[in-house]
Amino acid sequence: MSIQNDYVLEMRNITKAFPGVKALDDVMLRVRPGTVHALMGENGAGKSTLMKILFGMYSADSGELLLNGQPVRFDNPRQALDAGISMIHQELHPIPHRNVMENMWLGRYPQRRFGPLSFVDHAKMYADTKRLLDDLQMEIDPETRVGDLSVSHIQSMEVAKAVSYNSKIIIMDEPTSSLTESEVAHLFRIINRLRSQGVAIIYISHKMEEILKIADEVSIMRDGKHVGTWASNELTTNLIISRMVGRDLTNLYPEKTNTPADVLMQVEGLTSPLPKGFKNVSFALRRGEILGIGGLVGAQRTELVEAIFGLRLMEAGRIVINDHAVTIGSPVDAKRHKIALLTEDRRATGIFPIMSVHDNTIIANLRHYANWLGLIDYAEARKDVDENVSRLRVKTPTVRTPIRDLSGGNQQKVLLARWLLTEPEVLILDEPTRGIDVGAKYEIYALMIELARRGKGVIMISSEMPELLGISDRILVMCEGRVSGILDRQEADQEKIMQLATQFMEPVASS
Ligand SMILES: Nc1ncnc2c1ncn2[C@@H]1O[C@H](COP(=O)(O)OP(=O)(O)OP(=O)(O)O)[C@@H](O)[C@H]1O
Ligand SMILES: [Mg+2]
Repeated sequence: MSIQNDYVLEMRNITKAFPGVKALDDVMLRVRPGTVHALMGENGAGKSTLMKILFGMYSADSGELLLNGQPVRFDNPRQALDAGISMIHQELHPIPHRNVMENMWLGRYPQRRFGPLSFVDHAKMYADTKRLLDDLQMEIDPETRVGDLSVSHIQSMEVAKAVSYNSKIIIMDEPTSSLTESEVAHLFRIINRLRSQGVAIIYISHKMEEILKIADEVSIMRDGKHVGTWASNELTTNLIISRMVGRDLTNLYPEKTNTPADVLMQVEGLTSPLPKGFKNVSFALRRGEILGIGGLVGAQRTELVEAIFGLRLMEAGRIVINDHAVTIGSPVDAKRHKIALLTEDRRATGIFPIMSVHDNTIIANLRHYANWLGLIDYAEARKDVDENVSRLRVKTPTVRTPIRDLSGGNQQKVLLARWLLTEPEVLILDEPTRGIDVGAKYEIYALMIELARRGKGVIMISSEMPELLGISDRILVMCEGRVSGILDRQEADQEKIMQLATQFMEPVASS
């Protein structure tokens, strides 16, 4: 058989409905070998669903799948893997109490035979893992428990795992959502290498700059439909956005209408008991201010805000709110002092998967809806939920739908709504727009600015420079657990942030 086929993959007329939603409506996708094919669209457009069909996790209601021109059918991911397709999932599910190499080779451990008996060959597994990680220049120890890895390392591990199958098609569903700029650059080197080896990569991301840098072709989806496919050199950010949202979006950041006033919260000399933890962190947060926190992964930003929220111990330091020193030993204390935290890892610490959108929204605020008998006023709760679902444009069939059925970005919006309902004085957001589409990002920024305008203090950790620069009044930069500088909005730029973010680091040879 020597028929030359232009496409390694063709998906034709794919349709898929879930109760209450038509997730995919007659979608087509054609991918050439040795190319990076970006798949773009707003939250809930159907990107992950299409990829799950390709990977054998869902079956399509109708449509066809062709690999190298041959019709195929996958009933489960195993079959897809065997046919040369691997996938990095948007929501990662590593097994926390197993180590890196066990997660990597799960279900396919190397075996050693002794006559009729076979055992897991740990030495080989270690060697294979080490070779793979070294080859990809990832500094991860194969024997670390995955539960002890940072989100960014877990994401890197998943990349390595996908590469380890030697697939001809690799699906990457938001692979960089938790990676820093230098880790993204590293991933791009890996992608370039795979591409030159003839591998096709289907790349999903909400980050425009990435797409224009890495993709050869871009397919855009809107409301479960295929809008079109273009060569990436025919596209600009604005063209992509207007085709994604179906209208022009002229500004990426809302106008800043807030004005910082007097000090609301003061943090003085916070120090973690851990040797590598944050040290002697001091800053003030004003009423009406959006304080950005920048830095690289490992800078201890998440650890710092978790300590402020009472999730971690501190060894020294104090927090002063409205001129009173307060003790925050737990999130309950934090909530009493009207501090709210939207965590970075929403799956581990935020979402109750089988509970409804409604219950996930009100859960942090139940007391507010209870009368003196402890009975919940469901009508009022429902009103608030409806209001927030429409304000944040959460895409869900009904508020009774279990949250796990929502697209990744829409789950994030529900969590944001949850914390907004608690009416916090200090709202801390750890990477709030991770995995959120451009349109919805704008709504989230607008909300943050609105809260600040009403005199609240907002702290936003972000690894995205444009966003830090776009909406912060001041930017605090951390490096290796210490504050390396605080920049005013007027003086801040990418270079200064980068310089502060690496200020205390040992110079390392870059790869
Ligand atoms: N298992 C499921 N059960 C019910 N509805 C689902 C399920 N999976 C996805 N959906 C719905 O299908 C639609 C498409 O979701 P999908 O996850 O494919 O979006 P997406 O384009 O990947 O969005 P995001 O950018 O937020 O990840 C959404 O309306 C979502 O709520
Ligand atoms: Mg998705």
